[in-house]
Amino acid sequence: MKLRVKDLCKSFGSPPTDVIRDVSFEVGGGEFMSLTGKSGSGKSTLLYMISTLDHPTSGSVEIDGVDVTKLTQKELHRFRNRHMGFIFQFHYLLPEFTVLENVLMPAVKAREEAQRIGRARDLIAQFDLSEKLNHLPGQLSGGQQQRVAIARALLMEPDFVFADEPTGALDSVNGKIVMDIFERISKEKTTVIYVTHDSEFAEKARRKIRLKDGRIVR
Ligand SMILES: Nc1ncnc2c1ncn2[C@@H]1O[C@H](COP(=O)(O)OP(=O)(O)OP(=O)(O)O)[C@@H](O)[C@H]1O
Ligand SMILES: [Mg+2]
Repeated sequence: MKLRVKDLCKSFGSPPTDVIRDVSFEVGGGEFMSLTGKSGSGKSTLLYMISTLDHPTSGSVEIDGVDVTKLTQKELHRFRNRHMGFIFQFHYLLPEFTVLENVLMPAVKAREEAQRIGRARDLIAQFDLSEKLNHLPGQLSGGQQQRVAIARALLMEPDFVFADEPTGALDSVNGKIVMDIFERISKEKTTVIYVTHDSEFAEKARRKIRLKDGRIVR
């Protein structure tokens, strides 16, 4: 699947301040892409727009030829659940559900629990969490929680994974584990786009976008 961003702009407030200015690029097919820039340069705003979580002020976001800015909320929910995985600095796991239940959540929404339970267990095993299957998130370390969030993001075999500072709350060992997982899944044809402040992690990407004042500078 190809993601095509064209002349994307976002402004906030009145009088409007431009936060993203004329951003265009194309990405897809297992790309491994970092988004960097100073605090306030517009990284999160751009990531939310290209991942359909936020609306642009102008410009378009096309995925496989479909202008996703034109989809209804219901269509968007379905589209995201099928094609996109999300990972944030803080994981947003559901505290009262077990590891397995959290990982399975997207399948429950899609009414595909039975078909996906095997994959859920596989992912949990791959991320070295099999012993924690029936634990609650609060009983896990930060790195373990983030791996649960990644397993959940990958459950539906998404075409895209969007991550905003996924290693921001982790120590360097766990940060590296997360980056290695990302690199591996991008080789399995999932496009991974991640925001990071860590220059070493940013360099691991095969493609790098750097923002300055809402524009691409590299
Ligand atoms: N909902 C909003 N309303 C008004 N201004 C906003 C809103 N969201 C973001 N901004 C502004 O847009 C600019 C870019 O914000 P954004 O969160 O995209 O930056 P960022 O590059 O992700 O920064 P950080 O590295 O600190 O996370 C900032 O100046 C911010 O204050
Ligand atoms: Mg941000």
